[in-house]
Amino acid sequence: MAFSHQSLLFLVATLLLMQTLGDAATCSDCFIQSRAAYYPNSDEQGTETGACGFGSFGATINGGDVSAASDLYRDGVGCGACYQVRCKNSNYCSDNGVTVVITDHGASDRTDFILSRRAFGRMAQTTDAAASLLALGVVDIEYRRVLCSYPNKNITFKIDENSNYPYYLAFVLWYQQGKKDITAVQLCETQNFVCKLLDRSYGAVWTTTSPPSGPLQIRMLFSDDDGDETWVVPVNNIPENWKPGDLYDSGVQVL
Ligand SMILES: *[C@@H]1O[C@H](CO)[C@@H](O)[C@H](O)[C@H]1NC(C)=O
Repeated sequence: MAFSHQSLLFLVATLLLMQTLGDAATCSDCFIQSRAAYYPNSDEQGTETGACGFGSFGATINGGDVSAASDLYRDGVGCGACYQVRCKNSNYCSDNGVTVVITDHGASDRTDFILSRRAFGRMAQTTDAAASLLALGVVDIEYRRVLCSYPNKNITFKIDENSNYPYYLAFVLWYQQGKKDITAVQLCETQNFVCKLLDRSYGAVWTTTSPPSGPLQIRMLFSDDDGDETWVVPVNNIPENWKPGDLYDSGVQVL
């Protein structure tokens, strides 16, 4: 079988293209180039007021290494996701950079991240380098999704303070480890296990009006970046007499 010169070139180009696409598809650990800014007024802690609705959890999460995301916010699905972010100026920046948790939605000048001031400084090698970085305001970075880690914590149901027993239930899931997304949540009553899909009201906040009475089971759908989906049924239910502000341990953790 004879190939003309052109068709051979075309074949080689096609194979190269297929290989590139294949690499891109399997490269979930690769760093992606972008830019990051920081909240000028943020203090050393996280924030209770982020768009994710983490409340008091947001104020202490990950020691204050938190960030707002623009596209990565993904209508709230990105809330709680962890990213390794490292800046690229070799005079100032450390090799590891910083690991942040997404707690808010926002964009600045072509940025993917608006870090807390603390997290921004922690991309630097030294305190002096941190001051130089902060003076720049916006820097080139590269980032990748990484596992979140909350040692000795189970996923915890936090009943939002705006809930109104027994008519309106809003809650947030705390301490989700790993790097999967929670893409759906079902609320099941525990006698006949009739379930209904809940609405993601905003950020990481799930809500329902007229929740069933009795203990409540919250099932969570975890999705990974290959598109694999798994429903996780917790060990513990939310007790019948749930109260706004309370925390309930699910008894499960997911990696
Ligand atoms: C997590 O849940 C398990 C039960 O599934 C329990 O034995 C363990 O004590 C819980 N861990 C924490 C830190 O609460």
